[in-house]
Amino acid sequence: MKPYVSALNATLKPVNVLVRDMQIEPQSFDRVLSSMCTEPHPVARKAAERFLATNPGDPGTYPNVTALEEDAIATLGEIAGLEDPAGYVASGGTEANIQAVRIARDRAETRTLNVVMPESGHFSFQKAADVLGVELRIVPTDDDFRADLEAVRSCVDAETAMVVGVAGTTEYGRVDPIPELGEIARSVGALLHVDAAWGGFVLPFTDHEWHFGHAAVDTMAIDPHKMGQAAVPAGGLLVRSDDLLDELAVDTPYLESTSQATLTGTRSGAGVASAVAAMDELWPEGYRRQYARSRHNAEWLANALEKRGYDVVDPTLPLVAADLPRSTFDALRDEGWRISRTGTGELRVVCMPHVSREMLASFIGDLDRLEVRASVPVASGD
Ligand SMILES: Cc1ncc(COP(=O)(O)O)c(C=O)c1O
Repeated sequence: MKPYVSALNATLKPVNVLVRDMQIEPQSFDRVLSSMCTEPHPVARKAAERFLATNPGDPGTYPNVTALEEDAIATLGEIAGLEDPAGYVASGGTEANIQAVRIARDRAETRTLNVVMPESGHFSFQKAADVLGVELRIVPTDDDFRADLEAVRSCVDAETAMVVGVAGTTEYGRVDPIPELGEIARSVGALLHVDAAWGGFVLPFTDHEWHFGHAAVDTMAIDPHKMGQAAVPAGGLLVRSDDLLDELAVDTPYLESTSQATLTGTRSGAGVASAVAAMDELWPEGYRRQYARSRHNAEWLANALEKRGYDVVDPTLPLVAADLPRSTFDALRDEGWRISRTGTGELRVVCMPHVSREMLASFIGDLDRLEVRASVPVASGD
C-alpha cells in the first residue's frame, strides 16, 4: 500500500464509531474552573439557535442579522464609554486583537513598525505580529503584574504603531494603567489598544479607569462570549471612529454590500444574535449582580487557599492564582477538575458565571482530602 493510502486508512474510522461520536455529549461546566467562556445565558442560547443559519458577512442577503449587529455595537459602545461607536462582532478576542494591530500597521507612516505590549498580554498578539509582519516588543510587568510604565516609556520610539494595555489580564486579572499608557502612546504618535476581551463585562462595576471615556483609547477588544454570557463565537472589536474601521475595509465585488471590514468572510449570525440577546437581558443590572457574585466567590476561594497555607495572588477581578504543588495540581485534575496553570506554574481559577460557591466548596473539599492523603506516611511493609 502506498504510504499516503495507509495513512489515510489509519485516520478513517468505521461507520459505527462515527455514529457513536455524533452522540457524544458536550462538556458539562460543573467542574470547569479554567475557562474564560461560560454557559450562555438561556436567552443567548435561544437567539444563537434561531440565527445559526444567518451570515452577517453578507448584509445584502441577511439584513436582519446585520441590524442586530448594529445593536450589538451600540451596546458595546455604551459599556465601553464610547459615543458613536464603530466596530463589529468578531470571532473572539484573537480576531479583535489581530485587527487592531492591522489598523495600527496600516495607519503608520513608517515601513518598519513595532507594537509594544506588557508581558501579561495575550498570545494572540504573537499571532498578529507573525501574520502582519510587525515587531512585537514585550516589556516586563511590575510587582503587581501590571505594565511597568518606565519599561514601556523606554521601549517606544518613532516606529511604534501601537501600545497595548490589558484591562483584565488572562493570568492574574490585572488592569494596566490605561490613561498613562494612552499618554505614552500619544507621545510617539502611536495608537492605544485596550484588550478588555475578558474584563470588559466586569470593569464597568469597578473603579478602574479602562475605557474610551477614561483615556485616549483608539481600539478595544471586548468579548460578549466571555463574561458577557453570549454563545461562542461572539467577540467584539470597537474603534473610536469610523475612519479607523475604514483601514480594514476591502471591496466586495460580488456582494450587494460594497466593502467588508471583518477578517473572516462568512461568519455565524449565532454569535451576533446571542450577544444582543445577552446584553439586552443583562446590561447593566444583570452583569452588575453577576460581577458581585463572581467577586465574592473569588474572595472566598482566595481566603480558603490562604488559610491552608498557599501563597495567593490577591484577586482584583474575579480570577484567583495560587501556588499549589505540582503533584496536588495533577491530583485535582485527575479528580476531573478542569484547572490550568499560569506561565510560572500557579493554579489559576477563573470565577466565571457558571462557577458557584458550591462548586468551589467541593473543589476545596477535594483539595483537603488529597492533602490529607498526601501527608499520611506510606506503610513501609517491614
Ligand atoms: C485578555 C484576553 N485577550 C484575548 C483573548 C483571546 O480571546 P479568544 O480566545 O476569544 O480569541 C483572551 C482569551 O482568553 C484573553 O484572556
